[in-house]
Amino acid sequence: MPTYRAPRGTRDLLPTETPTWTRLERLAADLAARYGYRRIETPLFEQTDVFERGIGEVTDVVEKELFRLAPRTEESESWVLRPEPTAGIVRAYVQHGMRTWPQPVKVTQTGPMFRYDRPQAGRYRQFWQFDVEAIGDPGPAVDAEIIELGTRFYREAGLDGVEVLLNSIGDAACRPAYVAELTAYYEPHRVALPAIERGRLDRNVLRLLDSKDPAMAGLNANAPRMTERLCADCAEHFAAVRAHLDALGVGYRLEPGLVRGLDYYTRTAFEFYLVGREGQQQAIGGGGRYDGLVELLGGRPTPAIGFGIGLDRLILALTETAQAVPSEAGPTAVVVGADPDDTIARLRVVTQLRAAGVGSRAELGRRKLGKQLEAAARDGAHFAVILGDELADGNVGLRDLPAGTQKVVALADLAREIERAHAAHRHGGGPD
Ligand code: HAM
Repeated sequence: MPTYRAPRGTRDLLPTETPTWTRLERLAADLAARYGYRRIETPLFEQTDVFERGIGEVTDVVEKELFRLAPRTEESESWVLRPEPTAGIVRAYVQHGMRTWPQPVKVTQTGPMFRYDRPQAGRYRQFWQFDVEAIGDPGPAVDAEIIELGTRFYREAGLDGVEVLLNSIGDAACRPAYVAELTAYYEPHRVALPAIERGRLDRNVLRLLDSKDPAMAGLNANAPRMTERLCADCAEHFAAVRAHLDALGVGYRLEPGLVRGLDYYTRTAFEFYLVGREGQQQAIGGGGRYDGLVELLGGRPTPAIGFGIGLDRLILALTETAQAVPSEAGPTAVVVGADPDDTIARLRVVTQLRAAGVGSRAELGRRKLGKQLEAAARDGAHFAVILGDELADGNVGLRDLPAGTQKVVALADLAREIERAHAAHRHGGGPD
């Protein structure tokens, strides 16, 4: 047992795993750019208030899951590690006066989030999200655009069978009456409710609706539905979001119990699930409209919408369905030498190749040529560059490892020769 281990709920991403991560991070950046989202980076920690006010004090994330940083005595501020990116991005929008920029301000971020969750498969204390936010557009077209972007990300990542669950949770005009009606509906059942749900009844009754406790299923199935009590503006907005999704051919399932775990949402709320996994509290992504958040954090009333996609869960799903990519290929070339002691010559040649853009490594140990060549083949290298007696005349041996052929090449032409042969090989031309 090693003395030190990564903290509970965190993981090391090893080089054998990171190729899949790199691929998804690149896809996230490319796709966001294709849709006009620009990168924003906010700090990994913020003033506690940003999240307590923004997400809502009566939410699991704030009540139980915030990583609070122990304040230094000379500081009066208190900070927490970010449990999600939206509140920090909105704080930045207000701080930098982005309301004077062309609206909507469309930004994206991919990075680690921190929640003091009970760790289990797919639930970590440090996890990664691909996040997009469009701030300053009341929708409904942008709602559909953003949901379509989410579904495309999964598709281009190679994950099939992703389902969109959709709901509208109303706004400040229609939700209070609904919350009162819902409270009245559950109240007669108070004593029969599981303890956690009884607590929610007093503090955040909407959360009862998405309880995964089987004891709640019957009661929840008959609960009043927000979508049937939307005010005229919210009903019109919701119908238009659906019409836009239909027009784009984006499938979705209406889920009246979907309320999301953060308090800032208004109107459109959605989650992404792998088909058949809806019951497991394991959404692979989620988001919605948060028309009140900018004002709550000190700005002017500004409508906004976004989503966060959990990369850890996406990668788990890709791995389970065998869609993760294998490790990246080894170096294009490995420089080896007949004189085991001449590490200077090998390092000079490999430096020259790297300067010319060729991915390469040199044998820097002092083993025999045969062993060096074996290691090059094991690495999956395409070429071995062999330094021997010809080096005195400015020449080296270039061996195509898969083809088993070898020729003498002038050092001055080496990089060009490797690139030419490597490109021909990649495009199916085979070694010459
Ligand atoms: P969220 O639903 O709390 O929304 O998180 C988004 C996604 O992050 C989840 O669907 C899940 O895939 C992943 N996730 C959450 N917690 C964990 C965890 N402990 N371990 C692994 N993955 C996790 C938000 O965070 C909102 N900020 C999304 C949003 C953006 N809404 C509007 N804009």
